[in-house]
Amino acid sequence: MTPKTPRESRTIMTDMVLPSETNPLNNLFGGELLARMDRAASIAARRHSRRITVTASVNHVAFNQSVPVGSVVTVEAAVSRAFRTSMEVYIDVWMEDRFTGARSKANDAIYTFVAVDDAGKPTEVPQLAPETDLEKERFAAALRRKQLSLVLAGKMKPHDATELKALFLADESPK
Ligand SMILES: CC(C)(COP(=O)(O)OP(=O)(O)OC[C@H]1O[C@@H](n2cnc3c(N)ncnc32)[C@H](O)[C@@H]1OP(=O)(O)O)[C@@H](O)C(=O)NCCC(=O)NCCS
Repeated sequence: MTPKTPRESRTIMTDMVLPSETNPLNNLFGGELLARMDRAASIAARRHSRRITVTASVNHVAFNQSVPVGSVVTVEAAVSRAFRTSMEVYIDVWMEDRFTGARSKANDAIYTFVAVDDAGKPTEVPQLAPETDLEKERFAAALRRKQLSLVLAGKMKPHDATELKALFLADESPK
């Protein structure tokens, strides 16, 4: 299979925040944002694999900034690394100021999708060829994140998470 670039899976969804999608502080409800991110990430994973894809895990979500009602929100998702049948998708969420139009980063998240056949059996996906510095950085760290996710899910023994362990050992070097 020919490798694909993150550009080929990039998915951008822009929508506004309606009153029915907010919490009692009139900010976007977290579950609503999770659903928007899942939709965009799912499309990115499909664009990369051209297969049916299912969400295997949500590895990281940071709600750094609240998003007020009426905001214009852009969810940008792209595959950040492909393994054998799974893909890590990195999602950046941007918020547009109502008055100035200035764009600021509101949140980010990392989801894992698995490509499956019609019977739901995991199936191989093309590898990823990162192009920009940011894409290369995300690509390099993705293996550690996969190992952490598998350890937390009880699907990998910590002993076998070689790259993840190396990160902690590097941090223990004498100061
Ligand atoms: C995701 C799913 C297909 C994985 O099936 P499985 O029997 O565990 O299959 P495998 O063990 O072969 O794993 C398939 C891939 O997923 C990866 N994977 C599985 N669980 C994972 C997790 N928690 N975190 C990261 N990767 C995971 C495996 O490492 C493997 O990756 P690789 O082939 O790229 O190396 C299966 O659990 C499933 O169908 N889950 C339900 C998905 C769903 O309905 N999502 C919507 C939720 S409402």
